Amino acid sequence: MTQSTTQETVAIYPGSFDPLTSGHVDLVQRGLVMFDKVVVAIAENVRKTPLFSVEERRAHILKAVSDPRVEVDSFSGLLVDYVHRRGARIVLRGLRALADFEYEFQLAHMNRRLGAGIDTIFLMTSEKDFFVSSSLVKEVAQFGGAVDSLVPPIVAAALKKKFGRKG
Ligand code: PNS
Repeated sequence: MTQSTTQETVAIYPGSFDPLTSGHVDLVQRGLVMFDKVVVAIAENVRKTPLFSVEERRAHILKAVSDPRVEVDSFSGLLVDYVHRRGARIVLRGLRALADFEYEFQLAHMNRRLGAGIDTIFLMTSEKDFFVSSSLVKEVAQFGGAVDSLVPPIVAAALKKKFGRKG
């Protein structure tokens, strides 16, 4: 007999999301198929200087992924400490083409070493987004290239505004 449980399964999806891309949105949506709740956790203290503030990124995510089972939060310090504070055990990450593998492999193992009981689940980025990264999006937008197919409309508009372009 299958035991039913009332405990919800929560996945923490951490990242810089600077900016949010269509690949990120796809991952959240696919995460919702597997988990009761997905917490999109914006990392505040990554080494890079962000283009968008945490509040701007939070607004982009909330607009692009409006689902009652998605929560948007931010954290500073170690990811494993945040995951523990949330009482969660699962970290969700996307895996693009080969280039991501080594970094993600290190990250997942370091987090496993640091955080007892925390594991990372990877979803392959969908084939339409496998080449899309936030840094490439920023570069393309900065030089006036079209990013509309790479990011949600709210982010495309914010990038145009940031880089002083109309419409
Ligand atoms: O979107 P990104 O920049 O690839 O996300 C990387 C992120 C934020 C998940 C990673 O840098 C992180 O977890 N930072 C928090 C600090 C931390 O825990 N570092 C040690 C992980 S090995």
